[in-house]
Amino acid sequence: MIHVYDTPRELYDAAAWLWIQAALDRRRGQGGLVGIATGTTTAPIHETVARLYAVAPFDTRAIAICAVDDYAGMEAGHIASCSERIRRQLMRPLGLAEEQALLPDRFTGSDAPLQYEDAVARRGGVRMQMLGLGEDGHIGFNYPGASFGEGAHWVDLPQSTGDTLRRLYDLPAEKAPTHGLTLGIRSILMSRRIVIAATGARKAAIVRDAVLGPVCERVPASALQLHRDVAWLLDKEAASLL
Ligand code: F6R
Repeated sequence: MIHVYDTPRELYDAAAWLWIQAALDRRRGQGGLVGIATGTTTAPIHETVARLYAVAPFDTRAIAICAVDDYAGMEAGHIASCSERIRRQLMRPLGLAEEQALLPDRFTGSDAPLQYEDAVARRGGVRMQMLGLGEDGHIGFNYPGASFGEGAHWVDLPQSTGDTLRRLYDLPAEKAPTHGLTLGIRSILMSRRIVIAATGARKAAIVRDAVLGPVCERVPASALQLHRDVAWLLDKEAASLL
């Protein structure tokens, strides 16, 4: 299903309501986690969730979340880490306890991906995974060429990811992360529902390739064509080549 909004703002509002709905859904059999991605697209969605909560607080006790990925080797609590951004953008504003979130920065060592994937499964899997889309088609840290058959795994990050992070967070070169942990495409496809958001003309070509192009590992987001419940949330510019 593709939803096109006139402005990014309208998209952020719609996505925030979807997030709240998924997070609060306590129907039988609806256990599981709400999966979070960080980045410039999802940050304003999280801010909107927090703003809505501040004016009309809802019961957050049953909310459980997890992160789709995080950088490795960052100092604990560093603002650039995905786990810390999730704490700042969602957990603190919504008053969520640490036990309500599964965050990769608590998992270390070569077994960390397996342990993370197991922990997600033990919590009932991912009920709704919200994703952003990279200009090269990446989702989570699954970059072009990532195998669709992979579960959680360690990834060597491309230079561009380290550069973006350095620019956004003013990090010295030696502090830019070089690898990270991500849920794989196979794990993402196991989510019961997937919501992916993209805005701006820079994403138009990759949105077209992911939605209309062949399903291939060169375009990781094209794997979403294999899932039966995916909502694409696009602003007019990102949808302009569909
Ligand atoms: C980060 C993540 C990434 C981003 C993607 C889009 O946790 O999972 O896949 O979603 O890089 O980032 P933005 O929204 O900044 O364009």
